[in-house]
Amino acid sequence: MRNLNPSVYVDPAVFARECERIFWATWQLIGPASRLAEPGQYVATEIAGAKVMAVRGKDGKLRALRNVCRHRGARILEEGEGRCNMLRCQYHNWVYDLDGSLRQAPWFGEDAGFDMKDWPLEEISIEIWRGLAFIAIKPAGPLSSQLGDTVPELADEPIEDFHCVAERRLEFDANWKVYTDNFVEGYHIPGIHPGFFQAIEFEHFETTAHDNLIRMTAPPREGLFYKGKWLWMWPNWTLSLFDGGMNTSRINPLSEARTELIYNFYFADTSEEKRAAREDTIARNIAVVEEDFGICLETHKNYATRGYSPGPLSPRHEQGVAWFQNRISEVLAG
Ligand code: FES
Ligand SMILES: [Fe+2]
Repeated sequence: MRNLNPSVYVDPAVFARECERIFWATWQLIGPASRLAEPGQYVATEIAGAKVMAVRGKDGKLRALRNVCRHRGARILEEGEGRCNMLRCQYHNWVYDLDGSLRQAPWFGEDAGFDMKDWPLEEISIEIWRGLAFIAIKPAGPLSSQLGDTVPELADEPIEDFHCVAERRLEFDANWKVYTDNFVEGYHIPGIHPGFFQAIEFEHFETTAHDNLIRMTAPPREGLFYKGKWLWMWPNWTLSLFDGGMNTSRINPLSEARTELIYNFYFADTSEEKRAAREDTIARNIAVVEEDFGICLETHKNYATRGYSPGPLSPRHEQGVAWFQNRISEVLAG
């Protein structure tokens, strides 16, 4: 199989189709469900630019809503997490309840046709799976069918016992698929991650494609913080296991040429004594992630300037790339 046509990575029209057919049509990981445990707790974020929030109501029910005011479309909550007891749009001070219903529209004036009941925030979908919260704007199916083989793959890992201790956001100038192609292969480890290369038995690096899951494994050597298993899930999230913890990430496009990664780090042991060890793991992990940015950025430029025509993919190491790219081609064609 050949690599995808470079235009697929740089064409704004392709990106617009990906937003509609992928990002706004699938379940998107928004982080640990523990942030949404109490009434009033919220998380606000963007999904390929679409503003959404998850909020637990005073009735105890968890909801996802568009973070878009029904009046003239302003953002209501600033992106991030926190706690609130109502949702107030700062533009003209409309106030919504945590369940999305409009409660006040101050200074609006007399309009016999205006009924606050007609203007609630738009509700979208939210599901919790094993301690992780997912939002979907217009899902094609339930979260369980999107998770596919991830469910059995993680059945024996105690992921809900891990506590999220840190979140990190990283941005770089490349298409989200350039980064994804890179994530789903270990072929580049010798060239781009010399320290990581020394810490695994690269000869035994395995990549296999499953239902909505690319699984990469390698036996770790002494002293590696990774446990030797890295997972990527359709369409854009990852989970890597540590000894006594894990990270997750969401690969979120900011445009066709810029991408952000939202990483969360989880550990079983959150004691003060282990703080330095946790911080060391996080710093070493982020350093490996950042080693990929330079190569992604320069590759993206070669795609953008038509200096490249598609080359062959390795049957030994790029099965994951082939699976991902086939899926992208199907979605864009469909
Ligand atoms: S846009 Fe929100 S109150 Fe006007
Ligand atoms: Fe890498």
